[in-house]
Amino acid sequence: MFAPVEIAGVASCVPARVVTNFELETMVDTSDEWISKRTGIKKRRIAVEETAVGMAAQAAAEALAMSGVGKDDIGLIVACTISGDNLTPAMASSVQKALDIPRCAAMDISAGCTGFVYALVTAISLMDTLGADSALVVASETMSKYVDWTDRSTCVLFGDGAGAVVLRRSEEPHMHYPILNAVPDTDAAIVIKKEARTTPFGPPVDGRMEYIRMNGSEVFTYAVEVMEDTLRRLHKMCGEKPYTKIIPHQANEKIIDYVMRTMRLDREQFFINISEYANTSSATIPIAMADAYRTGWLRQGDRVALVGFGSGLTSGGVVIDWTIPNKKEK
Ligand code: UT7
Repeated sequence: MFAPVEIAGVASCVPARVVTNFELETMVDTSDEWISKRTGIKKRRIAVEETAVGMAAQAAAEALAMSGVGKDDIGLIVACTISGDNLTPAMASSVQKALDIPRCAAMDISAGCTGFVYALVTAISLMDTLGADSALVVASETMSKYVDWTDRSTCVLFGDGAGAVVLRRSEEPHMHYPILNAVPDTDAAIVIKKEARTTPFGPPVDGRMEYIRMNGSEVFTYAVEVMEDTLRRLHKMCGEKPYTKIIPHQANEKIIDYVMRTMRLDREQFFINISEYANTSSATIPIAMADAYRTGWLRQGDRVALVGFGSGLTSGGVVIDWTIPNKKEK
C-alpha cells in the first residue's frame, strides 16, 4: 500500500521539429497510408536543438510551477530514460543541476517504455522511506538518436519528448495498486545494444552505434496480453470504486484498439495522442497525462488507470485519483 500522495503538477515538453508521415515517404519506402492504418501515427516530434536533459528540465520546471511546490521542498528526483544524453551522471542529477534544486536524492530508472510507471511507483515508495514531502518524476527520450533512419520497420514508430509530474504528500491516498512486472525477453524482441569500444585487453570491436532492433509482431502479442492482464488486475483491486479512464502507453493505436475490443471498453475511456507524437517510449504516459489535463479530458475526481509495457520485457500499472481541478473547474 502506498503512503498518502497526490499528483500536484504535470507538464510536457516536445521538440519544435514536426516530422510527418509524408516527410518519411521521401526518406524510406513507406506511405502515410501504411503508417496511419497500422499504427495510428500521423507525425512525431524530433529533437534537433533539444536534448533529453533540456526537455526533462523544461517539463519538470513547468510541473513544479503548476504544483506550487518549492525547489527546497523536493526530497527526491526519479527520472527515466532509455535514450538519454549521458550514461552518467543520471538524468535526474542533470535535471537537479539544470533547475538548481538543492540537496535531495536523485536517480534514474531504466525499464524500457514502462519506465514512467516504474519511476512513479519507486518515487512514491521512496517518499515514504526517506520521509520526503514532495518528489519529481521525469521521463525524457530522444529515441530519434537510436533508430536507423533507413529501416522503415522501426523509424516510422518513434518520436522524442518529455513529461514530468510532481508528487506531494496528501491527507488521503490518491495513488493506488502498483503493479510492476517483468518476464525474460528470450527472443530479444526489443534491444538497443550499447556502443561497444575496443579495450587494450581484447580484440578490436567495430565500435559503431547500435540502433533499436525490434520484432514488431512478437512485441504486439506481448503488449496486448500484458495490457489486458494489468487492466483486469487493476480493475479487481479497485473493487467498488473502479477506474473509469485509462491512459495507456502509446506504442501503437492498434494495440489499444485490440484491448478495447477484448475488454469491451469504450473509446472515450482511453486517452490516445499517438497520432501527434508517435512512440516516445517512457515519456508517452506523462506526455499523455499533460495533454489530457490541458485539453480538459482529465477532470478532478477521475479515477484513472495508467498502464505500460516495454523492453525487458517489462509491464506495469497504477491507479490515480486525479485531484487537480481543471482550469474551467477552478
Ligand atoms: O513501446 C513498445 C515497443 N513497440 C511496440 O509496441 C510495437 C509493437 N508492434 C507493432 O506495433 C507492429 O507489429 C508494427 C507496427 C511494428 C508492424 O506492424 P505489422 O502489422 O505487425 O506489420 P509486419 O511487421 O507484419 O509487416 C507487414 C509488412 C511487411 O511486408 P511483407 O513482408 O508483408 O511484404 C513489412 O516489410 O509491412 C512491411 N512494412 C512496411 N511497409 C511500409 C514494415 N514497415 C513498413 C513501413 N511502411 N514503415
